[in-house]
Amino acid sequence: MKVFITGGCGFVGEHTAAALLEAGHQVFLYDSLFNSCPETLEALRRITGERLPFEQGDIRNGERLLQTLKAFGPDVVFHFAAFKSISESFQKPLDYYDVNVSGTLTLLKAMRACGLKRLVFSSTVGVYPENAPSPCPETVAAAAPHPYGETKVMIERLLSRLGDSDPDLSSVILRFCNPAGAHPSGLLGEKARQPQGNLFPRIWQAARGELPQVEIFGGDYPTPDGTAVRDYLHIMDLAEGCVKAAEYSLGHQGTEIFNLGSGAGASVLSVLRACERAAGRCIPFRIARRRPGDRPEFIAATGKAESILGWKARRGLDEICQDAWRYESHRN
Ligand SMILES: NC(=O)c1ccc[n+]([C@@H]2O[C@H](COP(=O)([O-])OP(=O)(O)OC[C@H]3O[C@@H](n4cnc5c(N)ncnc54)[C@H](O)[C@@H]3O)[C@@H](O)[C@H]2O)c1
Repeated sequence: MKVFITGGCGFVGEHTAAALLEAGHQVFLYDSLFNSCPETLEALRRITGERLPFEQGDIRNGERLLQTLKAFGPDVVFHFAAFKSISESFQKPLDYYDVNVSGTLTLLKAMRACGLKRLVFSSTVGVYPENAPSPCPETVAAAAPHPYGETKVMIERLLSRLGDSDPDLSSVILRFCNPAGAHPSGLLGEKARQPQGNLFPRIWQAARGELPQVEIFGGDYPTPDGTAVRDYLHIMDLAEGCVKAAEYSLGHQGTEIFNLGSGAGASVLSVLRACERAAGRCIPFRIARRRPGDRPEFIAATGKAESILGWKARRGLDEICQDAWRYESHRN
């Protein structure tokens, strides 16, 4: 399979590229490097022994996308390029709709002009409403409580409408839970330039002494230790799920949605303790007030991905933390 990846140098893109190459597929990376860096290409070469074709470009640049897609001629397009911070999306909604929604429209037009019919799209479990059940199945209606999630809902709906208009199209929508961890080589990992609100980057910053402490938002939730419970997924499990989705799309027509999560919950405090075990040091933390809109627990129902894609997360929290720390403890 020939796979074209937008956002190919980002956290999800680089690990998915590694998993695709390991499964014997060909990969082309397209990225503006807005939130990533070219060192990813060298890391991928060291892991896979291959120098990957890469084009630095914006997904809103239709002409460049068109020429690059035409030249590579992929079987499947993975669309990962996006802005992804919930808090930032409240401050910069225009940028989020522009990159996420307009960027996707430009990509879809370029795909149509090249006759490309298969897309794997990275959505998020952030599209589920605040009162969604946990575990949450794909059948729960999307109603994102923030602009970032709304951009994903808009694209999901657009893909569904497109599928109705052209029976040959295949769109596989993957709603990711919280990916964490790193490639076991220690060469790839999360190195975002954008401001980070996510838990793991803050924990590692505190572990390296770059943050005085980790703020844990809410210690009085109705959960076993009072901190919020989330579904964390090893980034290599997620990457392998993306490979399965692409293989599935080859024989699929229409629009299909899958949650990709571990199907298990971990509290924020248990994550911090697992990080301490992996790093072999205490990580200071402070319980702060709950953040508005945060729910006590969210776990994804993953039965659909298991039964249709034949995919299930295999790695646990300790492996996530050990692999992430191997990367974090050596990065500059
Ligand atoms: N990481 C998560 O926690 C998470 C969770 C759920 C869903 N997702 C989704 O998965 C996808 C990938 O996320 P990620 O964690 O790899 O993010 P990331 O920021 O690490 O990677 C995104 C990549 O897209 C690139 N990019 C951004 N704007 C671009 C543009 N206009 N043109 C071309 N490239 C552009 C960035 O440079 C970056 O390399 C995103 O669509 C995100 O919404 C991520």
